[in-house]
Amino acid sequence: MTYNMIADIQVNDAVSKVAVNSGSAKTIRHDHTSKTVFLVQVIFTATLTVVIPCLAKSSEAPSATRGEYIYIMGGCESCHSDSADKQPGPAGGVVLKTPFGTFITPNITPDKVTGIGNWSGQQFVDAMRKGVSPEGKHYYPSFPYTSYTKMNDRDLLDLWAYLGSLTPVNRVTERHDLSFPYNQRWLLGIWKFLFFEQAQFQPISSNTESWNRGAYIVNGPGHCAECHTPRNLFGAFKQDEYLAGTPEGPDGESVPSINPHKGGSFKKWTGDEIVFALQTGMLPDGDFMGGSMSQVVENCTSKLSDKDLLSISEYLRSP
Ligand code: HEC
Ligand code: HEC
Repeated sequence: MTYNMIADIQVNDAVSKVAVNSGSAKTIRHDHTSKTVFLVQVIFTATLTVVIPCLAKSSEAPSATRGEYIYIMGGCESCHSDSADKQPGPAGGVVLKTPFGTFITPNITPDKVTGIGNWSGQQFVDAMRKGVSPEGKHYYPSFPYTSYTKMNDRDLLDLWAYLGSLTPVNRVTERHDLSFPYNQRWLLGIWKFLFFEQAQFQPISSNTESWNRGAYIVNGPGHCAECHTPRNLFGAFKQDEYLAGTPEGPDGESVPSINPHKGGSFKKWTGDEIVFALQTGMLPDGDFMGGSMSQVVENCTSKLSDKDLLSISEYLRSP
């Protein structure tokens, strides 16, 4: 889906028109000499004001039971439940080390003071889909909204219902410890302008329903690309090496290709071998998957339905 937007922005008495097409074309015209500060402000404001259509009205009421399955599929627990601290539920505090500094995940239990208990469903959807907080702050892409943006309304609202059904945990999490300039959150406006496309998953009608389901899971809630795709200097995906693996994955670990067209031994895997590996963590050669993938298997893929695993395997053999 493409959102076209015209924003009128007034800076230093000069009215400028900014046309943003969330595809690759970006046009910026203005009638006085461009200054970096000006551009930054324009980009920042522009990314904040992208209009999304209101949530489609679903005939079914949101279901916390279904939402729990989406929570598993989204791997929320891996990043929001601090197992060392034995906190019940996603009370945050998980430390994520990255080349940009250390992130400490927030509390997403429904506690009204330290969690997200005061949010509306729409605010939650905006966080997941636009990467923006209720106060309008941009989130770091260490929160993989870059993938979650592809999720549909139904899944997001069910997920919201599930989060709301959890026990509130009162826990203040520490601040991120990031180096300059990454600690400048406002710069994320520029990052998003350049690298983030807010777009829900669009099925390809000439492919099977199962292929489309697999594509939705892998690229949306399953956020497989977040580890399996190499990133550029700015931490954005190298699109032409999608799912092609990287020697510099999270925590500096090496992540293999799961794109059969791009290197690696994965191209020889059968559909059954993919399903079995995601269910059990066991590779076709009898070895077990280690590193962060063992957590993905434990918290996520081993708990998915056979049907969903078959869909993932169908998609992964022809992404
Ligand atoms: C790879 C780690 C990771 C995963 C997986 C993850 N998150 Fe997060 N999440 C983060 C980080 C880091 C932040 C803080 C981002 C920031 O400060 O800009 C965050 C922030 C959030 C916020 C904003 C909270 C606030 O107080 O502003 C929400 C809501 C959220 N995550 C929900 C989820 C849900 C729901 C899932 C599962 C579908 C999920 N997250 C999966 C890392 C993760
Ligand atoms: C948090 C990072 C992370 C995420 C998210 C992730 N993976 Fe992985 N994956 C890895 C790592 C690391 C390995 C290598 C494990 C090893 O070699 O022991 C791996 C290995 C694999 C392998 C084995 C490939 C081979 O040739 O050995 C498959 C298949 C796989 N992942 C599928 C997926 C799928 C499908 C998803 C999404 C549902 C996913 N991964 C999400 C980090 C991740």
